[in-house]
Amino acid sequence: MTFDRRKFLVYAGAAGASGIAMPFVRPSWAQSGAIRVGLLLPYSGTYAPLGEAITRGLELFVKSQGGKLGGRDVTFVKVDDESAPPKATELTTKLLQGEKADILVGTVHSGVAMAMVKIAREQGTPTIVPNAGADAITRGMCGENIFRTSFANGAVGEATGLAMLAAGHRKAVTMTWKYAAGEEMVNGFKRAFIKGGGQILKDITVPFPDVEFQSALAEISTLKPDSVYSFFAGGGALKFLKDYAAAKLGIPLWGPGFLTDGVEKAAGEAGNGVKTVLHYVDALDNPQNKAFVKDFSGAYNVMPDVYAVQGWDAGQLLKVGLDAVAGDVAKRKELNAAMAKAAFASPRGPFRMSTSHDVVQNYYLRELKGGANAWLGVAAKELAPDATGCKLN
Ligand code: BEZ
Repeated sequence: MTFDRRKFLVYAGAAGASGIAMPFVRPSWAQSGAIRVGLLLPYSGTYAPLGEAITRGLELFVKSQGGKLGGRDVTFVKVDDESAPPKATELTTKLLQGEKADILVGTVHSGVAMAMVKIAREQGTPTIVPNAGADAITRGMCGENIFRTSFANGAVGEATGLAMLAAGHRKAVTMTWKYAAGEEMVNGFKRAFIKGGGQILKDITVPFPDVEFQSALAEISTLKPDSVYSFFAGGGALKFLKDYAAAKLGIPLWGPGFLTDGVEKAAGEAGNGVKTVLHYVDALDNPQNKAFVKDFSGAYNVMPDVYAVQGWDAGQLLKVGLDAVAGDVAKRKELNAAMAKAAFASPRGPFRMSTSHDVVQNYYLRELKGGANAWLGVAAKELAPDATGCKLN
């Protein structure tokens, strides 16, 4: 099996380690050296900005702790997963076995995440998913060592469906990328929307990560729904917002907040009026968010988005686990048990681990106006994701 070493970017964490790649055989002193956190994230392709924002949020949190968690220095080992599910098994294995990561943090794309989680469960490595919403991760594939600091696709879809009903919409067309995240966000939306008296005129999909939307937009125009529900993210979301505005359909556009997060400014006028539901908005009025926005924008000269918060909270969760074992990553059972009970104040509002290691959290209604998302209210309070099929010992 060949492995492209150029995909590994090993570097010193805030603690200032050497920056030289560790050999595959772990030296004995490594147990008392820095904790190795393996980051499996997209650093290229349409989801690259998402991977970057997660990394920044996590790095900023570790920096805020003086570069240490559980009393030990932290070193990050970064791998670009390219949002490519066929590469996920090889890259995860190399991170865990080759690079001897003590902790795994990844990833953004649901398909990549499911392959990663399968291996992480087999290896027993404490793992935090800082974005990918694949429902299975905290349902049938859940595990003692698997945690999520983001959302489940079905839950965010459901919350958006409830908000669209409350806004009076009854006839929707759905449009998304054809892969697990899009399908599950549409399914969650449809469950809530149909139950509340809504009707789906058509489900339209395009292959991931295609951004050719013209024929679908022409079809939506002939279907004449009263609303469109859509999931795209990253570079694809930006292209969709621009194409949608240019098509001048006059039909309200809704979606999970990934449709606008991180692309607010770049969308410009094209994004005006797009309503979304998400567990974060940078305008949230709480002390943790105010401090986070100040620190993040001060450090990186851009506003944080939901991905940055999910990275920050991966750090908060890891701190809970590592503090409980005073940095001894070999004590996996105790570390996992502490993370399973975690509850803390996040920039997103209250954060609490669910029974299946997902997040119980609020979902907010937002509207994009003049390059920023405005907070319109709470769409769903302390929503717990569906844990059906999850069996933890
Ligand atoms: C996913 O694949 O689960 C996903 C990707 C980007 C944003 C949200 C979810």
